[in-house]
Amino acid sequence: MLTSRHGLTLLLALSITVSSGTTAYTWPDPRIDLLESILYQQNGFRQYGLAFGVAPCNNQASTLETGRDDSAEWFRTAYHDMATADVQAGTGGIDASIGFETDRDENKGKAFNESIGFFIGFQSVRSSMADLIALGALFSVGSCSNGEVIIPFRGGRVDVYEAGPSGVPQPQESLDSHTAAFARQGFNVTEMIGLVACGHTIGGVHGENFPEIVPVVNDSNNMASRQDFDESFDNFDNSVATQFVSNSMQNPLAFGHNETTRSDFRIFNADGGELIRKMAESQQLFWDTCTTLLERMLNTVPRDVQLTEVIQPIPVRPKIKHPSGGHPTTGHAKSRRVRDVIPTYTRV
Ligand code: HEM
Ligand SMILES: *[C@@H]1O[C@H](CO)[C@@H](O)[C@H](O)[C@H]1NC(C)=O
Ligand SMILES: *[C@@H]1O[C@H](CO)[C@@H](O)[C@H](O)[C@H]1NC(C)=O
Ligand SMILES: *[C@@H]1O[C@H](CO)[C@@H](O)[C@H](O)[C@H]1NC(C)=O
Ligand SMILES: *[C@@H]1O[C@H](CO)[C@@H](O)[C@H](O)[C@H]1NC(C)=O
Repeated sequence: MLTSRHGLTLLLALSITVSSGTTAYTWPDPRIDLLESILYQQNGFRQYGLAFGVAPCNNQASTLETGRDDSAEWFRTAYHDMATADVQAGTGGIDASIGFETDRDENKGKAFNESIGFFIGFQSVRSSMADLIALGALFSVGSCSNGEVIIPFRGGRVDVYEAGPSGVPQPQESLDSHTAAFARQGFNVTEMIGLVACGHTIGGVHGENFPEIVPVVNDSNNMASRQDFDESFDNFDNSVATQFVSNSMQNPLAFGHNETTRSDFRIFNADGGELIRKMAESQQLFWDTCTTLLERMLNTVPRDVQLTEVIQPIPVRPKIKHPSGGHPTTGHAKSRRVRDVIPTYTRV
């Protein structure tokens, strides 16, 4: 099996093979152009490199502590931003409100502040924080699954600048409460089981954040005291399901010492254990279920927000030609004003 180190290469390779999209695209399109570049130009041309934050999957680039990973944190950030959505009312979803909600009990840990701190460098009028949160999750699962879970990306999410209602599920809540929370977010019981299994296949529970669930350890290799959800915390695979079905005792939210916080146990059994068994039996079914559910999760937005078509790589377009002052290797221009653009057609 490929190691996660190869995830990014594969992710980019797959991205390019889907380039024969049929959507008619005309340059310029301010809703799409910059997002397309951030999505597809990691290592080449303008080298946005956002995906390198989570490639390899166990990258710790922006966390100074061992026992934490950006990939798991970016992914969890997207869920916590979405989790306060009310699809009936048409409010909430991925709208970057999480940035104003980090002092809440339901958002414990440094993950949210630090993920947003990383994304700020890419935020602009043409790339909202909400779109970057969605892209972060997309890159994370693409890298951690070695390119098996490629979520089609639509842009156009709109940022809010204040906290929204609370309502992120917490592990000590009852199954009824979780069922109601996921229904509010637009997911039925089967989909709740799938989404939680897809979420809890990378990363783990940190004693630093949840000492009532896992012990705080004194280990310089695990400063945040993480106990992994499954045997491969840095691989987006179905081992969370196989280990659950075989009673391996690894997942702290399924088998932890504290019965009150065994939310994964209650959720995975909510349909009599049927879906988690199927996900354990088939790696492919696990990936397919996650691709579908996570696309819906990332596309949950307030009713008045209109997302773009799925963004495909633009095969050919003008690039900015800058007479002087541009970066010699990256080609970064001094000025991004459109009237400075002298079209020189390049394959990007
Ligand atoms: C009832 C629903 C859920 C509950 C109660 C829950 C609870 C938790 C808890 C307590 C942690 C430990 C966080 C830490 O110690 O830093 C965690 C981690 C995580 N959760 Fe969930 N979660 C739920 C659903 C989801 C969903 C739907 C997703 C994504 C689709 C998700 C993604 C993650 C990820 C990626 C981590 C690992 C974070 C890391 O290692 O830094 N969770 N969850
Ligand atoms: C995140 O940053 C905000 C604003 O700087 C601050 O109010 C909040 O306490 C921080 N939360 C955490 C968990 O660090
Ligand atoms: C949830 O919806 C899916 C369709 O997306 C359906 O296949 C499944 O049976 C539903 N589950 C429940 C419990 O209604
Ligand atoms: C178990 O978790 C609950 C909810 O967080 C907490 O109130 C309780 O103190 C915990 N029990 C133990 C033994 O840690
Ligand atoms: C943690 O471990 C280090 C080295 O093993 C030791 O020097 C230190 O006293 C320990 N700290 C605590 C709080 O146990």
